[in-house]
Amino acid sequence: MRIGVLTSGGDCPGLNAVIRSVVHRAVVDHGDEVIGFHDGWKGLLECDYRKLDLDAVAGILARGGTILGSSRVQPAHLVDGVERARGHVSDLGLDAIIPIGGEGTLKAANLLSQAGLPIVGVPKTIDNDIASTDVTFGFDTAVGVATEALDRLKTTAESHQRVLIVEVMGRHTGWIALHSGMAAGAHAIVVPERPFDIDELTARVGARFEAGKKFAIVVVAEGAKPRAGSMEFNEGGKDIYGHERFAGVAQQLAGELEHRLGKEARAVILGHVQRGGTPTAYDRVLATRFGWHAVEAAHRGEFGMLTALRGTDIVMVPLAQAVETLKTVPSERYDEAETVL
Ligand code: F6P
Repeated sequence: MRIGVLTSGGDCPGLNAVIRSVVHRAVVDHGDEVIGFHDGWKGLLECDYRKLDLDAVAGILARGGTILGSSRVQPAHLVDGVERARGHVSDLGLDAIIPIGGEGTLKAANLLSQAGLPIVGVPKTIDNDIASTDVTFGFDTAVGVATEALDRLKTTAESHQRVLIVEVMGRHTGWIALHSGMAAGAHAIVVPERPFDIDELTARVGARFEAGKKFAIVVVAEGAKPRAGSMEFNEGGKDIYGHERFAGVAQQLAGELEHRLGKEARAVILGHVQRGGTPTAYDRVLATRFGWHAVEAAHRGEFGMLTALRGTDIVMVPLAQAVETLKTVPSERYDEAETVL
């Protein structure tokens, strides 16, 4: 079999572990040939690739980022994107393509699959918002990084008797905010799923100071917004691919809370540090299992499918189903976090 693999969308700790696993399972156990496209779908569309053998993936298990490079280019961005991809798959004699990516990548994978290309998807995102899998690799690492940062920020907030508003990633969903906030014992957690009311948030943080506490930590997901009419808010705009370019919710909240509470408030934006560096053991294991199962699915001819974690099992789910909705933070999970704030 000849397999093409690519990593697309935002990078994520564990991508290299999937690539390594695909090569190990395919080359060593099945005698396949594997090629890796450079910079996501762009590599497939431009026929830019390299052969991946055991030497090419040696020593990459624990390495962050992706040895193949990534981009946000999608076949749908080009008028002839699907036909170009089909032509290159045929010219290269590929029997399977394994795209590793998040929401946007999987939508593109589904489009190509429906056009008849042999696709087996692997979900990735630090945001953990792919509905068909219990967990995506990268999430555990991102939560660990954010939690460590929050632990550290507590001591500086306490020393200066400040309110620190810590912005974590999470465009549409608040999984990183919820988990890191719970793990670090944040005093308020703000997620996109539940637009915040600035009066309620002020009262919550204010109550802490009234109770004699000297500082407060608020974790906010970058995509969080106030309830309509709650406060003036700059939502930002769009980048060249149509993704949100946020105007900085933490900065806006810091200004508002400082003004309302009469306490010094500072915004801290963790940003891409949450995506960089070595994956946790959990993410390496999940990524390795996804890679192994993607190769097996390709050998069974199970195309148009996505690897997914259900409980402790890796299962295959239809790509079309996987891209229907995002996995948002359920209300009860948010309520659990609130009871212990
Ligand atoms: O989807 C993963 C993610 O890290 C989001 O949490 C974040 O909004 C986005 O990617 C940032 O993307 P970029 O690296 O293109 O700025």
